[in-house]
Amino acid sequence: MALLNPHYQKLQSGYLFQEIEKRVSAYQKAFPENVLLNLGIGDVSEPLTPTLLKALVHASSEMGDPQTFRGYGPSQGYAFLREKIAEQDFQNRITPDEIFISDGAKNDVANLQEIFCTQNQVGLADPVYPVYIDTTVMAGRTGPFHETKGYEGIHYLPCTEETGFEVLPPKAPLDLIYLCSPNNPTGVAFSKNTLKKWIAYAKEHQAVLLFDAAYEAYITDPNIPHSIYEIEGGKEVAIEIRSFSKTAGFTGLRCSYTVVPKDLQINKQSLHALWSRRHGTKFGGVSYPIQRTAEAVYSKEGHQELKTRITCCMQGAKAFKASLQKQGFTVFGGENAPYVWCKTPNGLSSWDFFDTLLTQASILSIPGSGFGRRGEGYIRFSAFAPQTTLQQATKALSCL
Ligand code: MLT
Repeated sequence: MALLNPHYQKLQSGYLFQEIEKRVSAYQKAFPENVLLNLGIGDVSEPLTPTLLKALVHASSEMGDPQTFRGYGPSQGYAFLREKIAEQDFQNRITPDEIFISDGAKNDVANLQEIFCTQNQVGLADPVYPVYIDTTVMAGRTGPFHETKGYEGIHYLPCTEETGFEVLPPKAPLDLIYLCSPNNPTGVAFSKNTLKKWIAYAKEHQAVLLFDAAYEAYITDPNIPHSIYEIEGGKEVAIEIRSFSKTAGFTGLRCSYTVVPKDLQINKQSLHALWSRRHGTKFGGVSYPIQRTAEAVYSKEGHQELKTRITCCMQGAKAFKASLQKQGFTVFGGENAPYVWCKTPNGLSSWDFFDTLLTQASILSIPGSGFGRRGEGYIRFSAFAPQTTLQQATKALSCL
């Protein structure tokens, strides 16, 4: 008899975003005439910029020409893309051969767990992107779930108003720590000082930091680091994960990358070598046209188009946040990431306020409790939505 992975039995309900999809589809069936104001999942809402589209079309047509057709590419990704990333995203702080091109940051943050022993103690922010928790459970690193304290074996690090929505190293020694900056869902990015503390902590405990920087392009404060490698010692303790999804509109195209520095070693064993072994065995690479499209992100024109788009998105986020504040809501984030983290009014639970917004204002949000117990009493709005949707949502909120 085939035995199933027993750890899947410990998972609580469905994956957050699947649960939301289910509720939205029920709502749309019940009220087909209502136009949904989608501030839910952080998905981009605009088409590819002209320069990126041109690169995609050109590279796709190369695949139809016997002179330029390509079969399997290098599993680590084409050098033309890795070289641009090292130079422009990291000012050559890291080298192209430390970069692994992949088809999604979500996959990598989950798959990275494979190269670590199941006995490692995992720490993560509460609230945080639910993929870290669910995949830690799936990997068998936890005990059962308890209503009052979450999964046995996970160290939940408060990321609350009291901590300024930063996550600080605990006293307890942890081995593997997920850090997401700017943080999803609070939209708050970690300061240089906080990252310094984490690097010192990781060195002291020989821990590894899994630094998810999927939203770094949205940082507007010049004092906030975009990469953990900007901080001395970062390359000795951290793996950094980035994505073209939000930055360049690749949620449908799929392209991301993970940096595993060669300086990162545990007991003289290279994590780069392990990840390379895993990647080469289990990953078939990102397609050539998609990597050429990602390369266009680093062209002068591509860079300018995306800069304009990101600036516009953050103006929308800031305006939406200001309008919520004007209406008396307590809100955070929205300054260095397009997520606005809003306290529910009158002590409503996250799911109750989610339902109120959906049924009374046709606004789709994400309940804060879906990101962790300390997210209870909050709701997340995504400002990736078109400006008109944000304006309509502001109006609908004022009529609640
Ligand atoms: C979110 O809404 O938190 C993200 O879009 C989900 C994801 O990137 O997987």
